[in-house]
Amino acid sequence: MSVSGQEKLKVLIRRAAIQKRVREVARQITKDFKGERVHLIGVLKGACIFLSDLVREISLETSIDFIAVSSYGKGKQSSGQVRVLKDLDSSIEGLNVVLVEDILDTGLTLTYLLRILQQRRPRILRVAALLDKPSRRLKPVKADYVGFTIPNEFVVGYGLDYAERYRNLKDVCVLSLPPA
Ligand code: IMP
Ligand code: MG
Repeated sequence: MSVSGQEKLKVLIRRAAIQKRVREVARQITKDFKGERVHLIGVLKGACIFLSDLVREISLETSIDFIAVSSYGKGKQSSGQVRVLKDLDSSIEGLNVVLVEDILDTGLTLTYLLRILQQRRPRILRVAALLDKPSRRLKPVKADYVGFTIPNEFVVGYGLDYAERYRNLKDVCVLSLPPA
């Protein structure tokens, strides 16, 4: 893996552990929605890899859609502003929706998404987040399905980026940057 400048990567969650946990989360979703259809909504771009693995482990009728929002700039800092960049392709009215997020950090993005999606009258609206950093929360919001609870570190890999890089790492890694 090519790492630029003085950036350093340290493995936090290995690929095998991610795969195992994704299967467990999928099994729980399969159980909770037994006999029904689930509509997964991936939050682009970070959740694309998690969603791809998750949906293949769910043994139910499924459909998928994606939404893209901007909450962060190019770096690590949240702008605090959330905006829809790409909306859903189809209506979610009456559907069992599971919103799939890469990471739940301050909760600003999720709070905003839950508010706009709830207005569209899904039958059920749940949240699956691969990672949760509860120590950073600014809004009182929780995911129904959490892959891993992690400490307050900036992580990349398995879909998560730093300035659009590192999404292709198979493990979730802590990224440390050289001092500014
Ligand atoms: P929140 O609105 O602060 O909860 O942030 C959610 C979004 O910020 C996620 O969907 C990620 O795109 C991004 N984010 C938050 N923490 C990290 C991190 O540690 N690594 C990479 N992206 C992150
Ligand atoms: Mg991001």
